[in-house]
Amino acid sequence: MKTFKKVVFWIFVSFAIIQFIPIDKTNKPIDKSVNFIDVKKSPSKVVTLLKNACYDCHSNETVYPEYAYIAPFSWSVKDHINEGREHLNFSVWNSYNKDLKESMLSKAVQTLKDKSMPLPAYIVYHDDANLSEAERTVLVKYFEEILKTKSY
Ligand code: HEC
Repeated sequence: MKTFKKVVFWIFVSFAIIQFIPIDKTNKPIDKSVNFIDVKKSPSKVVTLLKNACYDCHSNETVYPEYAYIAPFSWSVKDHINEGREHLNFSVWNSYNKDLKESMLSKAVQTLKDKSMPLPAYIVYHDDANLSEAERTVLVKYFEEILKTKSY
């Protein structure tokens, strides 16, 4: 029992200490000349869906949820955001070359269809990101149209 209490005590202390290792939550400013929804003049329905379901991890307009203030969950959130932005960052869209844009849009269509995006764990805490079939179709059609007309 004594050992058990010690273990609990040290888990508690470690948890308290890691709270002093925060994540950087500053968003870079938005440059409208390269921001996807500005450059493409996306319809408001598309903008809403992208902002609700994708922008937290794939843009510089991240809105951090409350659990992102508690370590170690905060570290995992930040990892997803860094990785998400590396794969596709809508805020710097026009800085990508044509090949990259084409590949990102095709992958976006793919991930929407196979439901691997938005990340399933994210949907649990974000009702708005739980896209219906119809909402997925809106985004898929929008991306497919850009691909078809090569107007990336
Ligand atoms: C909670 C964070 C999060 C959200 C929300 C999110 N993504 Fe992602 N996304 C990631 C991460 C992390 C990766 C890289 C790892 C992976 O592919 O699973 C990624 C990868 C991708 C990729 C690249 C896949 C590849 O094969 O290279 C695409 C495209 C993508 N996401 C599209 C979207 C779209 C479209 C939405 C909105 C409908 C969205 N994501 C929402 C975190 C997120």
